[in-house]
Amino acid sequence: PRVGILISGRGSNMVSLVETARQPGYPAEIALVLSNVPDAPGLDRASGFGIATATVDHRTFGKDREAFERAMDEVLRAHQIDLVVLAGFMRIMTAWFVKRWEGRMINIHPSLLPLFKGTHTHRQALEAGVSEHGCSVHFVVPELDAGPVIAQAKVPVLPGDDENTLAARVLTQEHGLYPQALAAVASGAVALVDGALVRR
Ligand code: GRF
Repeated sequence: PRVGILISGRGSNMVSLVETARQPGYPAEIALVLSNVPDAPGLDRASGFGIATATVDHRTFGKDREAFERAMDEVLRAHQIDLVVLAGFMRIMTAWFVKRWEGRMINIHPSLLPLFKGTHTHRQALEAGVSEHGCSVHFVVPELDAGPVIAQAKVPVLPGDDENTLAARVLTQEHGLYPQALAAVASGAVALVDGALVRR
Protein backbone atom coordinates (compact mmCIF):
# COMPACT_ATOMS: atom_id res chain seq x y z
CA PRO A 1 0.00 0.00 0.00
CA ARG A 2 0.83 3.64 -0.53
CA VAL A 3 1.21 5.57 2.72
CA GLY A 4 0.63 9.27 3.37
CA ILE A 5 2.25 10.61 6.54
CA LEU A 6 0.61 13.64 8.16
CA ILE A 7 2.87 15.90 10.21
CA SER A 8 2.78 19.30 11.89
CA GLY A 9 6.36 19.70 13.09
CA ARG A 10 9.87 18.30 13.14
CA GLY A 11 8.92 14.89 11.76
CA SER A 12 11.36 12.60 13.54
CA ASN A 13 8.84 9.73 13.43
CA MET A 14 8.31 10.41 9.74
CA VAL A 15 12.07 10.12 9.14
CA SER A 16 12.20 6.84 10.99
CA LEU A 17 9.25 5.50 8.95
CA VAL A 18 10.85 6.61 5.67
CA GLU A 19 14.20 5.06 6.54
CA THR A 20 12.67 1.75 7.58
CA ALA A 21 10.30 1.63 4.60
CA ARG A 22 13.29 1.83 2.27
CA GLN A 23 14.59 -1.48 3.46
CA PRO A 24 13.96 -4.41 1.10
CA GLY A 25 10.81 -6.35 1.85
CA TYR A 26 9.08 -3.61 3.85
CA PRO A 27 5.36 -3.98 3.04
CA ALA A 28 4.51 -0.29 2.47
CA GLU A 29 5.72 2.64 0.43
CA ILE A 30 5.85 6.17 1.87
CA ALA A 31 4.37 8.09 -1.06
CA LEU A 32 3.49 11.46 0.46
CA VAL A 33 4.22 13.68 3.45
CA LEU A 34 1.43 16.19 4.08
CA SER A 35 1.58 19.02 6.62
CA ASN A 36 -1.00 21.46 7.95
CA VAL A 37 1.87 23.81 8.87
CA PRO A 38 3.56 25.40 5.84
CA ASP A 39 6.99 25.73 7.48
CA ALA A 40 7.04 22.43 9.36
CA PRO A 41 10.72 21.35 9.44
CA GLY A 42 9.66 17.80 8.54
CA LEU A 43 8.64 18.92 5.03
CA ASP A 44 12.22 19.75 4.08
CA ARG A 45 13.43 16.50 5.56
CA ALA A 46 10.88 14.60 3.43
CA SER A 47 11.90 16.47 0.27
CA GLY A 48 15.49 15.59 1.08
CA PHE A 49 14.48 11.93 0.82
CA GLY A 50 12.85 12.62 -2.56
CA ILE A 51 9.35 12.10 -1.21
CA ALA A 52 6.40 14.12 -2.53
CA THR A 53 5.24 16.78 -0.05
CA ALA A 54 2.13 18.91 0.23
CA THR A 55 0.73 21.52 2.58
CA VAL A 56 -2.90 22.12 3.45
CA ASP A 57 -2.85 25.09 5.83
CA HIS A 58 -5.78 24.73 8.24
CA ARG A 59 -5.72 28.49 8.90
CA THR A 60 -7.00 29.26 5.41
CA PHE A 61 -10.25 27.41 6.22
CA GLY A 62 -11.14 29.39 9.34
CA LYS A 63 -13.43 27.41 11.61
CA ASP A 64 -14.59 25.05 8.86
CA ARG A 65 -12.83 21.84 9.93
CA GLU A 66 -14.53 19.73 7.32
CA ALA A 67 -13.48 22.03 4.47
CA PHE A 68 -9.89 21.67 5.71
CA GLU A 69 -10.27 17.91 5.81
CA ARG A 70 -11.91 17.73 2.38
CA ALA A 71 -8.88 19.59 1.01
CA MET A 72 -6.53 17.09 2.70
CA ASP A 73 -8.65 14.21 1.48
CA GLU A 74 -8.36 15.47 -2.11
CA VAL A 75 -4.57 15.62 -1.85
CA LEU A 76 -4.45 12.10 -0.36
CA ARG A 77 -6.64 10.76 -3.16
CA ALA A 78 -4.66 12.60 -5.84
CA HIS A 79 -1.58 10.72 -4.57
CA GLN A 80 -3.54 7.43 -4.45
CA ILE A 81 -2.91 6.99 -0.74
CA ASP A 82 -4.21 3.78 0.86
CA LEU A 83 -3.09 4.31 4.47
CA VAL A 84 -2.84 7.49 6.52
CA VAL A 85 -0.20 7.66 9.25
CA LEU A 86 -0.41 10.51 11.77
CA ALA A 87 3.03 11.42 13.08
CA GLY A 88 2.96 14.48 15.29
CA PHE A 89 -0.10 15.80 13.45
CA MET A 90 -1.62 18.36 15.80
CA ARG A 91 -5.19 18.70 14.49
CA ILE A 92 -8.14 16.78 15.84
CA MET A 93 -10.07 15.05 13.03
CA THR A 94 -13.84 15.25 12.62
CA ALA A 95 -15.94 12.10 12.59
CA TRP A 96 -16.40 12.65 8.85
CA PHE A 97 -12.69 12.30 8.08
CA VAL A 98 -12.22 9.47 10.56
CA LYS A 99 -15.09 7.50 9.00
CA ARG A 100 -13.68 8.08 5.54
CA TRP A 101 -10.36 6.52 6.58
CA GLU A 102 -11.74 4.04 9.08
CA GLY A 103 -9.37 1.12 9.56
CA ARG A 104 -6.88 2.85 7.25
CA MET A 105 -5.57 5.55 9.59
CA ILE A 106 -3.20 5.09 12.53
CA ASN A 107 -1.65 7.41 15.10
CA ILE A 108 1.22 7.32 17.57
CA HIS A 109 0.54 8.68 21.04
CA PRO A 110 3.31 9.23 23.61
CA SER A 111 1.78 7.33 26.53
CA LEU A 112 0.71 3.83 27.45
CA LEU A 113 -2.93 4.21 26.42
CA PRO A 114 -5.51 4.30 27.90
CA LEU A 115 -3.40 6.33 30.33
CA PHE A 116 -2.70 10.01 29.68
CA LYS A 117 -4.73 10.97 26.63
CA GLY A 118 -4.46 14.43 25.10
CA THR A 119 -1.41 16.68 25.36
CA HIS A 120 1.51 17.01 27.83
CA THR A 121 1.56 13.25 28.34
CA HIS A 122 5.05 13.22 29.89
CA ARG A 123 4.03 15.86 32.43
CA GLN A 124 0.88 13.86 33.15
CA ALA A 125 2.96 10.73 33.72
CA LEU A 126 5.39 12.51 36.08
CA GLU A 127 2.53 14.09 38.03
CA ALA A 128 0.82 10.71 38.36
CA GLY A 129 4.05 9.22 39.72
CA VAL A 130 4.00 6.12 37.50
CA SER A 131 7.16 3.99 37.34
CA GLU A 132 6.55 2.99 33.71
CA HIS A 133 5.64 5.10 30.68
CA GLY A 134 5.86 4.70 26.91
CA CYS A 135 4.06 5.05 23.60
CA SER A 136 1.16 3.46 21.74
CA VAL A 137 0.21 3.05 18.09
CA HIS A 138 -3.54 2.83 17.59
CA PHE A 139 -6.21 2.89 14.92
CA VAL A 140 -7.90 6.29 14.81
CA VAL A 141 -11.55 6.41 15.89
CA PRO A 142 -13.70 9.53 16.36
CA GLU A 143 -13.01 9.73 20.10
CA LEU A 144 -9.57 11.27 20.79
CA ASP A 145 -6.74 8.79 21.57
CA ALA A 146 -9.31 6.04 22.12
CA GLY A 147 -8.85 3.63 19.17
CA PRO A 148 -7.78 0.00 19.53
CA VAL A 149 -4.08 -0.27 20.36
CA ILE A 150 -1.92 -2.06 17.77
CA ALA A 151 1.40 -1.99 19.65
CA GLN A 152 3.07 -0.39 22.65
CA ALA A 153 6.62 0.15 23.88
CA LYS A 154 7.53 0.81 27.50
CA VAL A 155 10.26 2.80 29.22
CA PRO A 156 11.08 3.19 32.90
CA VAL A 157 10.51 6.52 34.62
CA LEU A 158 13.81 7.23 36.38
CA PRO A 159 14.57 9.28 39.49
CA GLY A 160 15.38 12.84 38.47
CA ASP A 161 13.42 12.65 35.20
CA ASP A 162 11.85 15.83 33.91
CA GLU A 163 9.52 16.21 30.93
CA ASN A 164 12.44 16.50 28.52
CA THR A 165 14.44 13.48 29.63
CA LEU A 166 11.30 11.35 29.73
CA ALA A 167 10.10 12.59 26.33
CA ALA A 168 13.48 11.77 24.79
CA ARG A 169 13.44 8.24 26.22
CA VAL A 170 9.93 7.66 24.88
CA LEU A 171 10.73 9.19 21.47
CA THR A 172 13.55 6.69 20.93
CA GLN A 173 11.00 3.92 21.45
CA GLU A 174 8.50 5.61 19.11
CA HIS A 175 11.06 5.48 16.31
CA GLY A 176 11.32 1.71 16.62
CA LEU A 177 7.66 1.03 17.32
CA TYR A 178 5.95 3.00 14.57
CA PRO A 179 7.61 1.30 11.57
CA GLN A 180 6.83 -2.11 13.10
CA ALA A 181 3.19 -1.22 13.72
CA LEU A 182 2.78 0.22 10.22
CA ALA A 183 4.23 -2.96 8.74
CA ALA A 184 1.68 -5.01 10.69
CA VAL A 185 -1.19 -2.92 9.31
CA ALA A 186 0.20 -2.70 5.77
CA SER A 187 0.73 -6.45 5.56
CA GLY A 188 -2.75 -7.18 6.91
CA ALA A 189 -1.40 -8.90 10.04
CA VAL A 190 -3.52 -6.45 12.04
CA ALA A 191 -6.84 -4.96 10.99
CA LEU A 192 -9.82 -3.07 12.36
CA VAL A 193 -12.97 -5.12 11.85
CA ASP A 194 -16.31 -3.76 13.11
CA GLY A 195 -14.42 -1.39 15.39
CA ALA A 196 -12.33 -4.13 16.97
CA LEU A 197 -8.71 -5.11 16.45
CA VAL A 198 -8.13 -8.42 14.70
CA ARG A 199 -4.76 -10.18 14.37
CA ARG A 200 -4.26 -12.79 11.65
C1 GRF B 1 5.79 12.47 19.11
O1 GRF B 1 6.15 12.37 20.45
C2 GRF B 1 4.44 11.91 18.88
O2 GRF B 1 4.15 10.80 19.65
C3 GRF B 1 3.58 13.07 19.32
O3 GRF B 1 4.21 14.19 18.82
C4 GRF B 1 5.61 13.94 18.70
C5 GRF B 1 5.97 14.17 17.27
O4 GRF B 1 7.35 14.16 17.07
N1 GRF B 1 2.22 12.88 18.93
P1 GRF B 1 7.96 14.12 15.61
O5 GRF B 1 7.31 15.26 14.82
O6 GRF B 1 7.63 12.79 15.01
O7 GRF B 1 9.41 14.33 15.79
